[in-house]
Amino acid sequence: MSRGKFITFEGIDGAGKSSHLAFVAEFLRARGKTVITSREPGGTPLGEKLRDLLLHETMHLETEALLMFASRREHMAQLIEPALARGDWVISDRFSDASFAYQGGGRKLSRAKLEALENWVHPHLQPDVTLLFDVPLEVARARLNATRIQDKFEQEQSDFFAGAREEYLRRAAQFPQRFRLIDSTATMDAVRAQLITILTPFVVPQQGNS
Ligand code: TYD
Repeated sequence: MSRGKFITFEGIDGAGKSSHLAFVAEFLRARGKTVITSREPGGTPLGEKLRDLLLHETMHLETEALLMFASRREHMAQLIEPALARGDWVISDRFSDASFAYQGGGRKLSRAKLEALENWVHPHLQPDVTLLFDVPLEVARARLNATRIQDKFEQEQSDFFAGAREEYLRRAAQFPQRFRLIDSTATMDAVRAQLITILTPFVVPQQGNS
């Protein structure tokens, strides 16, 4: 039994990533994969309790980062690792890149501290592919304002999101083998077409890959 693949969705709030998660899951299921969808913070009963605190309580920046990684540790142990070992595919709406983007780029926690947490919680695991949904800040803000009641992060000012987006793009450039940049200003259908182009090589292995 070969290991499943781990796919993560990333992007600033309002980039539209969550609308595409079900589409990607169905695309993969139609090609014979067993797919588990999850999210961070959250993904386990304990993680969902932490999510509630993280999205609604004011706390010290380092507490926030530690709780994000505590939720992630539980998610890895309870859901991600067992699923991948069974050969299932896991799609997570956000993972550690979000901590680098939000707590790092947005709130300016040092990269060294985030790397220390990453090395603690998942020293050997990285996503097989990270889909980065990218839109200019104004587009993201307009989408957020149009949709819903905003949580703690969504109420942040534009320099916070500018920092988060910049860090996402910096990481995409640093890890080009796993990041795929998606122009999320495009129509729903055009974004789906981009996703199909990106994911097809993963489900139809090319010669030489296994
Ligand atoms: P999000 O994924 O945008 O869910 P929803 O679509 O329901 O709003 O919400 C999660 C929020 O948590 C988002 O604003 C980003 C933030 N976050 C961090 O700040 N650090 C992290 O490590 C993670 C996983 C999320």
